[in-house]
Amino acid sequence: MKKIDRETVQRILDTADIVEVVSDFVHLKRRGANYIGLCPFHNERTPSFSVSKAKGICKCFSCGKGGSPVGFIMEHEQLSYNEALRYLAKKYNIEIKEHEMTDKEREEASERESMLAVNEFALNHFEQNLSETDDGRDIGLAYFRERGINDASVKKFRLGYSLDKRDDLLTAAKNKGYNEKYLIDTGLCYKADNGRVYDRFKGRVMYPVFSVSGKVVAFGGRTLRKDKDVAKYVNSPESTVYRKSYELYGLYQAKKSIVQRDKCILVEGYMDVISMHQSGVENVVASSGTSLTEGQIRLIHRFTENVTVIYDSDAAGIKASLRGIDMLLAEGLNVKVLSLPAGDDPDSFAQSHSASELEEYLERNETDFIRFKTAILLQGVENDPIKRAKVIGDIVRSISVIPDDITRSVYVKECSRMLDIEEKVLTLQIAKIINERAVKEAGKTQYQSRDNEDVAVAGNAVIADVAGRLPDRKTAEDSAGDVSRFLYPYEKEVLRYVLKYGMLDLCEACDENGNTFPIKVIEYIDDELRSDEIVFTNSGFARTYGEALNVSRATWQQDYDRQAEVLTARRLETIAKGEEEIRLTVSDLGSIAAREKALETKADNEYLESVASFSAMYIERILGSSPDDTVRQITTDLVSEKYVLSKVHTKYTKVETEQDRLADLVPRALYEWKDAILDCRIRELHRRIKEVSSQPDADGTQLRELMIQNIELMRLKSEFAKYLGERIVAPRK
Ligand code: CTP
Ligand code: MN
Repeated sequence: MKKIDRETVQRILDTADIVEVVSDFVHLKRRGANYIGLCPFHNERTPSFSVSKAKGICKCFSCGKGGSPVGFIMEHEQLSYNEALRYLAKKYNIEIKEHEMTDKEREEASERESMLAVNEFALNHFEQNLSETDDGRDIGLAYFRERGINDASVKKFRLGYSLDKRDDLLTAAKNKGYNEKYLIDTGLCYKADNGRVYDRFKGRVMYPVFSVSGKVVAFGGRTLRKDKDVAKYVNSPESTVYRKSYELYGLYQAKKSIVQRDKCILVEGYMDVISMHQSGVENVVASSGTSLTEGQIRLIHRFTENVTVIYDSDAAGIKASLRGIDMLLAEGLNVKVLSLPAGDDPDSFAQSHSASELEEYLERNETDFIRFKTAILLQGVENDPIKRAKVIGDIVRSISVIPDDITRSVYVKECSRMLDIEEKVLTLQIAKIINERAVKEAGKTQYQSRDNEDVAVAGNAVIADVAGRLPDRKTAEDSAGDVSRFLYPYEKEVLRYVLKYGMLDLCEACDENGNTFPIKVIEYIDDELRSDEIVFTNSGFARTYGEALNVSRATWQQDYDRQAEVLTARRLETIAKGEEEIRLTVSDLGSIAAREKALETKADNEYLESVASFSAMYIERILGSSPDDTVRQITTDLVSEKYVLSKVHTKYTKVETEQDRLADLVPRALYEWKDAILDCRIRELHRRIKEVSSQPDADGTQLRELMIQNIELMRLKSEFAKYLGERIVAPRK
């Protein structure tokens, strides 16, 4: 896909209205300055999805999802950044001027794109074989017909046929100019030991595998031969474009229905998916014969929380896959299972029943997973206490992975009854397991977990600065993580001011000649951080802050000038129109002058207000639509507030907003942060002092140096305490 040029991107971002964009998927009601509705990202009965037209963002205060129009569309439609932009462009009839990629862009994109292109070629080639060659029709299509697959399904799943020639695809692709390298990289062809290249799928019917966004990433080819020594299916190998554990067969065709029905049905094979679709049950995907992976589960969870797993009825198969289902529970999904009558698989069942029979069977026979598992495991062990205890342990572990408290307690009740064990005993056991796990996982915070390395490095800098040298590696890593976690809320608060108010004037400064000039919030903060050599230790914050600085330097002036021009024109227009009206309606000269003066004041105020709101929104608007996932996510999180304090003007009171008090709040947030850093340094210093003095041959000079540092830090600390205690009103400068 070609890149969209910067200007068009900007136009799309400027045009997209969050309320309009969200309204396509969520029924919104007005509440105060915002709109609210039921969150499309999780199941809920009372609305916690809030949309702010003014800020141009939406956010669920329950599950945390949301974002700018682009972010929302990416999440909701499961599209990439570029695809989401295209979606919005289409919605608003914005024409996309395709720009030619630079050499570097082309190189980066080319490997992947070339592989996808050759897959796309193969897809069409196999499809054409099926309908346009004699062998295709007589062998391939005949096979599908015999299996009860109709033409509409063949088309929908883009089924095909690979001719029984060892180089049919290879030759066709090369003739069209496709590079042999990509035919091999995608696995469509392979290099044999003799050095020659052959078609991998020769003589097989073809099932293309599509990614969520509809790109062909792989193929499954089924043999039509009956002999046992031929593999029934040959599948594309893993490659840059195909990571097996992150794809689900049929998801592309099923996703709409999964969202509509708020449920995903999980089956095993290609044929199961296709036959169920053909019978009108379209919310079906297949894990393609392997056990489920975490990546696949996440993929499902993007579309629904409810999963029904269909089993072939053999007991061995069921027991083997019980473990995979615990993973579904752990991801917070509600899992049901359904077994088919003996001898049936979803394919045969769908083929031998009418659509309504199928629907009815599904509805009637779904059982809750925990209940199902308990029943299965208990079979035959009723009288064996040791085996029974093992089963109980197993079930308790399954329940313990469920993230939601209430759901968990429902299961505890249920199992207490089924297993005939006191609820209290089960609850205790589960609590113990959960605790153990929590201890193991303690400390992972949301943004840190993305890349802990940066955190460690940045954290080390802080500590090294204090101790005068790097502490040994192990403790450095531990304490770096600690430092980062400890500083997290302080860094977050300062970053929030940058994102929400960065381009607003905070205070005035003087140059040597006594001229005053305004200092913006972001400039003030950057100045302070630089002079004290402070950096964000949480890597996501650091990245977001860096982006904010970039934006404030690179594009701000130009955008501001352009906006000011527009607003000036609007101001003049307002005045011109107003004056005309005054002249037409008012006759005495004295009041004309007074009216004109009032008009001008009003136009001026409007202008200033618009400029201020443009400035205030500038950084969050751009970063909220950033192509960088981390930056976008953090921006959305930090700028949306649960409770918006609205300005209340009455005759007597004016409730001040945060924006009114920036001159007080921003310096304060910086001080609190610095104070926290100081605490870290003091703590680390004390550790060092203890360490040095506990050595038998303690180095007196070193100890004295550390003590001096300690005195200095304590002095700073008391200075900060004084500042923070006094609650000063004006920032120093
Ligand atoms: N599978 C595979 N390789 C095999 C066998 C199976 O990759 N040698 C995968 C395929 O994705 C297949 C799924 O496991 O769809 C389920 O296997 P199976 O039930 O044997 O295949 P069906 O899809 O039911 O195919 P058919 O009905 O044509 O036998
Ligand atoms: Mn089958």
